[in-house]
Amino acid sequence: MHTLASYDELPYDSLPLPETQPDFLAAVARLHGFEAPPPSRARILELGCAQGGNLIPLAWRWPESVCVGVELSRVQAEAGADFVRRLGLGNVRILHGDLAALPDDLGQFDYLIAHGVFSWVPPAVQAALLEVCRRHLAPQGIAYLSFNVAAGWEKLQPLRAALVGRTAADLPAPARYVQALRVLDELQTECSDPLLLKEIAYLKTAAPSYLFHEYLADFNAPMTFAEFAARLDAHGLRYVGEAGPRRAVVELEDAWGLIPESMAGRWLDAEGALDDAFATRFRRALVARDDAPCAQPPQASALRTLAFHADLRSDAEIDLESATEQDFVNPAGNRFPIALPAMKAAAMALSGVYPNALPYPDMVDAARRLLAGFGLPAALDEAAFDAALFQLVIAHGVMPTAWPGTFEAEPGEHPRAHALARQQAGSPGWVVSGARHVALDLDPAGRMLLAALDGSRTVGELAAWMRTSLQASGRVPALDRLDELTRRQLWLFARQGLLQADRDTPDPA
Ligand SMILES: C[S@@+](CC[C@H](N)C(=O)[O-])C[C@H]1O[C@@H](n2cnc3c(N)ncnc32)[C@H](O)[C@@H]1O
Repeated sequence: MHTLASYDELPYDSLPLPETQPDFLAAVARLHGFEAPPPSRARILELGCAQGGNLIPLAWRWPESVCVGVELSRVQAEAGADFVRRLGLGNVRILHGDLAALPDDLGQFDYLIAHGVFSWVPPAVQAALLEVCRRHLAPQGIAYLSFNVAAGWEKLQPLRAALVGRTAADLPAPARYVQALRVLDELQTECSDPLLLKEIAYLKTAAPSYLFHEYLADFNAPMTFAEFAARLDAHGLRYVGEAGPRRAVVELEDAWGLIPESMAGRWLDAEGALDDAFATRFRRALVARDDAPCAQPPQASALRTLAFHADLRSDAEIDLESATEQDFVNPAGNRFPIALPAMKAAAMALSGVYPNALPYPDMVDAARRLLAGFGLPAALDEAAFDAALFQLVIAHGVMPTAWPGTFEAEPGEHPRAHALARQQAGSPGWVVSGARHVALDLDPAGRMLLAALDGSRTVGELAAWMRTSLQASGRVPALDRLDELTRRQLWLFARQGLLQADRDTPDPA
């Protein structure tokens, strides 16, 4: 079978992508009035899965799920299959193959994920991808398809044209990337458009694979939302909602009493108008079969049936007494303004139990208790609270989930990381994924510590072991503070849900 040379030579950073988590997709679908299958026992198919950095942690998290990844780049597919073998994980397979020629006996799937594929493949493969969705989606299944949107890409096309035109297409991908960096330097002096200059500055620091595959790849075909919806329609599929963070959502006037079917056309038009207003570049569309019940624009009322998690902090002391707007910041540095005191309290409560989630009623109770603890009125304006929560959920400051999960919160006496985290930490080229499917940025010492957490050492022994190992490897970072740094690192691992309950016996080597 043939392979994809550009991805063999310059593999895509295979990261966990929080927006593709089926529990999140099910939650978003529910906001749209669409009930997707329970994620923890789901059949999940990922197309163009690279080495499986997104799919494998999902399979690990849900042992009762069945996960299949398909990847055309032989190098990436084999790296993924090898990782799965070493982990001894029985519910996931990474297949080397073409999504346009899937094995006949693959069956149907509750969740189908294709991130960074649709706009980057030739038209025939795009059509095949939509056919796969129609053929392999279960009746209530949800597909996640991300694609580049014309509204935002229109202005970036001259940049792509310059990079494609001024680099040699026959060079191996890594060498062409180096050439592209030089072209970016030239463009920086030639160009005066602030938007392009901002993009050039970003591209100079972005992952090589991003620059290559967005700006130099043979295919990058942005399309309007209307075109995308028409393509879905032609393949017996239908738009359900958007899994990406948003600044605004569609609210239809005079839609009261209308069934979803009769508001569909107006809704889709409004989605397109929103792209034009915000110059949207990228969409993460949720898609279902067209014989499944029709979805509708998102409804805040559905929030009450969901659970939520958030990892937020505030630079300033949180003022629960007044409705002064305060910024809450997530680990990626994104800022989310919150004014409503009850919502500030809820954000504090959620962040306090992260990575665990709180079902809506528990979150509201926790917010009330926090307010009462500060001697403030615990009565809550539910409509105002739901409106504030809805805004945060839409912007991804607070993530909704249909699967709360439970995670160990403390390192314990003999810290022990779960096998996936240890193997990720000990495997070069693999990113460590947090419990909520986020990519963790660990330095080499952090990875070394995590890989060693088999439950055989106490916290003190771990600090001593780190000291010896770091000295032996020639790295001598703050040796005098190593005890403290080790302890702090362990708490960070616990906060990311990487640790398991303390056990008497260590894991077998
Ligand atoms: C931009 S990358 C995205 C990788 C991964 N989904 C992610 O988001 O990190 C696109 C991936 O699709 C794979 N791909 C492209 N055409 C394919 C095809 N016809 N069948 C299967 N995989 C394909 C590429 O090899 C590459 O790994």
